[in-house]
Amino acid sequence: MSKIAILGAMIEEIEPLLSHMDNIKEVNYANNIFYEASFKGKDVVVAYSKIGKVFSSLTATLLIEKFRCDKLLFSGVAGAVSSDLKIGDLVIADGLCQHDLDITAFGHPHGYVPEGEVCIPTDVRLREIAKDIAKTKSIELKEGIIATGDQFVACSDRKNWVKDTFNAHALEMEGASVAVVCNALNIPFFILRAISDTADGSADIDFDTFLASSAKVSAEFILEMVEKI
Ligand code: ADE
Repeated sequence: MSKIAILGAMIEEIEPLLSHMDNIKEVNYANNIFYEASFKGKDVVVAYSKIGKVFSSLTATLLIEKFRCDKLLFSGVAGAVSSDLKIGDLVIADGLCQHDLDITAFGHPHGYVPEGEVCIPTDVRLREIAKDIAKTKSIELKEGIIATGDQFVACSDRKNWVKDTFNAHALEMEGASVAVVCNALNIPFFILRAISDTADGSADIDFDTFLASSAKVSAEFILEMVEKI
């Protein structure tokens, strides 16, 4: 039977998932807790990685290689880059890039290193499932590029640079690193984010204010997806 990994970066992003799970068993590994559980008869493993590209790569790898998950869904919050996105809106990544990866000194484009790709696409089938759910439930779902970096962006200049350089709709700190791992290991993956802030001067205050409510919006949508997979 399929085993679905559900990953967040912060405890606040997975708490609204765990509260709906049955038969939870905690496994401690690599300074982290992995929650093996079932949801409506499906086997899942839920974890939060801690913030950033390194921790999220580690946790995604373990979910696949140690816990043998064969699909990965990411649930969490993001800063809006596109002016269409408001706090609480849901956005799915069609592709992910690393906005802080920079060897432009050698003539390469931003986000590129040799043998890598600037933008890694997410699984089309999982995106279709999400769009079907959104349609049935009349939930507005935006789709676009999500840019990832090891920086909390709280500055309009940086946000606009990310928008112009990568055509990004939203930004966060884990999606592209999870994408690199899943792509390399051939695991279908899906990245969902609900907007917590607009990545400008008030981002820190908005993030603290809306983290829990936006994380819940994302988690509830992910649970609908688990049912349909
Ligand atoms: N996640 C949520 N908001 C963010 C921001 N402004 N920058 C980076 N990651 C985020």
